[in-house]
Amino acid sequence: MPATYKILQSADHADSFNNRDAFALDVLVGLSSMPKSISSKYFYDQRGSELFRQISLLPEYYLTERELEIIEHHWSTVAAAAGREPFNLVELGAGFSQKSLLFLEHFAKAGLAFRYVPIDISESAMAGLVESLGERFPHLEVNGLVTDYFNGLKWLNRRHRRRNLVLFLGSSIGNFNHTRACFFLRSLWNALNHDDVVLIGFDMKKDIDLLLRAYNDSEGVTREFNLNLLCRINGELGGNFDLSKFRHFGTYNVSSGAMESYLVSQERQMVFIEAIGRSFLFEPWEPLHTEYSYKYLASDIDRLAEETGFEVKQHLYDSRNYFADSVWRVQKVGSGELASRDRSLTAKAG
Ligand code: AVJ
Repeated sequence: MPATYKILQSADHADSFNNRDAFALDVLVGLSSMPKSISSKYFYDQRGSELFRQISLLPEYYLTERELEIIEHHWSTVAAAAGREPFNLVELGAGFSQKSLLFLEHFAKAGLAFRYVPIDISESAMAGLVESLGERFPHLEVNGLVTDYFNGLKWLNRRHRRRNLVLFLGSSIGNFNHTRACFFLRSLWNALNHDDVVLIGFDMKKDIDLLLRAYNDSEGVTREFNLNLLCRINGELGGNFDLSKFRHFGTYNVSSGAMESYLVSQERQMVFIEAIGRSFLFEPWEPLHTEYSYKYLASDIDRLAEETGFEVKQHLYDSRNYFADSVWRVQKVGSGELASRDRSLTAKAG
């Protein structure tokens, strides 16, 4: 027999290592850890995304309204930062949020020349977005990309030499700790060109009572959102979590600056998960960590930009200073690049 090899394409992976296996493996690792934890990225199945949409409409979840105010007041500053036309308005995540709509409406009304490029790994989310945009903005050029953010940006840059204005709205970056935020931003920097512009949403450090209310809303939607993680394990991995035996707990860690969400076991119990083939013991009052939502000071944002090769142009705040959309410019030539390379080397050495 001749010796051969085959490069597996993504379709070949269908029954080897699929999403369900990856989820099961992450749950196994997370429930075997001390303290137990599961990544917040698993919140967002269809029901979880709908629950987050409901949270984003709650007055107690001030973030949405505050960021909308920023966009309403400062969209022209953002357009001016993009500068040269035509540009690509790239959005990380196909949110179809009120926020992106507000940008599109203002940019279109002002007659700016741009194409809208939402990037998302979910084809169903993209299909829905593109369809409704076609109805609402028949003259807008929309080129959605179904892929991960960084491959999407690299593909875009190979095709067109246009300046990119990249939106990363909401407080999505808040789910990352400092190390992971740096890694994400450095990957973004790599995929972009010198002088491209990014707009990133940061939720600011503020009165702790406001934070606690935003993540423990009075209607219990955040509680449902958190418990949905256990529903997903039950439905997709054959788990037997009894949801009534866990309570949602959202708390603020003043030293790390993060809102932290937990599901706390209210009694001693065993939970069996078929896809993993074993049970896990929960002691009474044992926590399962599910989410970090980091809050920022202006100086935290400046440091993050500096560490990852960006120049901060401006922090755009709402009238209460609860939220900031920060305008950054990609700095790739001259001393900027050398300086940040030096820093990352020093950081590794130290
Ligand atoms: C979607 C990550 C921005 O952290 O504020 C809302 C998710 N969690 N309420 C956030 C969330 C609890 C949200 N992000």
